[in-house]
Amino acid sequence: MIQFQNIVKKYRTKTIIRNFSLDIEDGQLVVFIGPSGCGKTTLLKMINRLTQPTSGKIFLNGTDISKMNPIELRRNIGYVIQNTGLFPHMTIKENLELIPKLKGESMDLIEKKTVELLKMVGLTEEYLQRYPKELSGGQQQRVGVARAFSTNSDIILMDEPFSALDPVTRSALQEELYQMQKELNKTIIFVTHDMDEAIKIADKICLLKDGDLLQYDTPENILKNPTNDFVENFIGKRRIWNNPEILKAEDIMIQNPVKITTKRNVLQAIEIMKENKVDSLMVTDKQNALIGLVTLKGIQLHNRNAIIEDIMEQEVLSISQDTDLISVLKTMNDHKIGYVPVVNNSNQLLGLITRSSILSALSSQLIEMEVAF
Ligand SMILES: Nc1ncnc2c1ncn2[C@@H]1O[C@H](COP(=O)(O)OP(=O)(O)OP(=O)(O)O)[C@@H](O)[C@H]1O
Ligand SMILES: [Mg+2]
Repeated sequence: MIQFQNIVKKYRTKTIIRNFSLDIEDGQLVVFIGPSGCGKTTLLKMINRLTQPTSGKIFLNGTDISKMNPIELRRNIGYVIQNTGLFPHMTIKENLELIPKLKGESMDLIEKKTVELLKMVGLTEEYLQRYPKELSGGQQQRVGVARAFSTNSDIILMDEPFSALDPVTRSALQEELYQMQKELNKTIIFVTHDMDEAIKIADKICLLKDGDLLQYDTPENILKNPTNDFVENFIGKRRIWNNPEILKAEDIMIQNPVKITTKRNVLQAIEIMKENKVDSLMVTDKQNALIGLVTLKGIQLHNRNAIIEDIMEQEVLSISQDTDLISVLKTMNDHKIGYVPVVNNSNQLLGLITRSSILSALSSQLIEMEVAF
């Protein structure tokens, strides 16, 4: 449990944080969100004592952190900053093993854990001996996340860790973070500007403005009952939330999903994915009927010359164009899938629904409704 108790922060005469109190339960993913300069980073850095409050106290499991050894404290709290903070002159392996070594864990255990962590963030062992500059921005971010988890700490602080990434990579990392957090049951405090990101990953959202806490609640409650006009504007007037069933699959799908025909090979599929920045392709026949699906993860296991129709997943779950939003969400949840193709009565591919297509459709629908009403 992390408890902020009457925290005030002043820089000279300027008050940055007025009187901030908050309890964060163990195992929760809490998102701090608010406009630039509202004090998110300041509050985050207080937890590992990179910043001191002017007054007020922070307790970790009941212990006042100002009484703890700051170096010890920092080694026990994972911290990810925006530009990853990887040490450029160390390999990925050395970066990941630094803190566990400092803590004197056994080498066997450390090496085993390093590989596991890398796998968890979707990277293979081949990256271990590389230097950060030999990785793409997204891969470096993944290593940054893995390093935060390497500390074995129960608490991880993440300050806009994904903000420099393209939407596809960002979405993938949000997904992985969410999974890792649920599996490992860490307490994570995650700072972002992006409400969509917050809604996707948060157990609770802490909405800040000018150093004041405006609302601390589940994403659902914040959407349903924004505490004031500022919060309402900040989340976008998502009144659609009250009657989501009016939206149908065809309203929320991406209209031209990237697809591939059966006779192509694995290498070509990978190229098409790269070019379009996607990690899966719908497989269609000459009549545009949906007959399969390939994912980047899946096809990488195959020979580059293998033909798509021989290796594609054939049992693809799809939904019809007039399925309502609630049923779409239910289908995705029940089958634990992040996307679902949309087809017409003749099984022809019309589009693809993904978590982000749902979010972007919701926000644009809302703007239209505002105008219409
Ligand atoms: N060392 C400092 N000296 C003076 N003022 C500071 C210092 N650090 C931060 N501030 C001020 O404190 C306020 C809060 O800063 P903070 O970095 O916490 O904001 P933030 O919410 O993280 O913003 P952003 O979303 O832009 O990262 C800002 O007005 C900033 O200018
Ligand atoms: Mg900040």
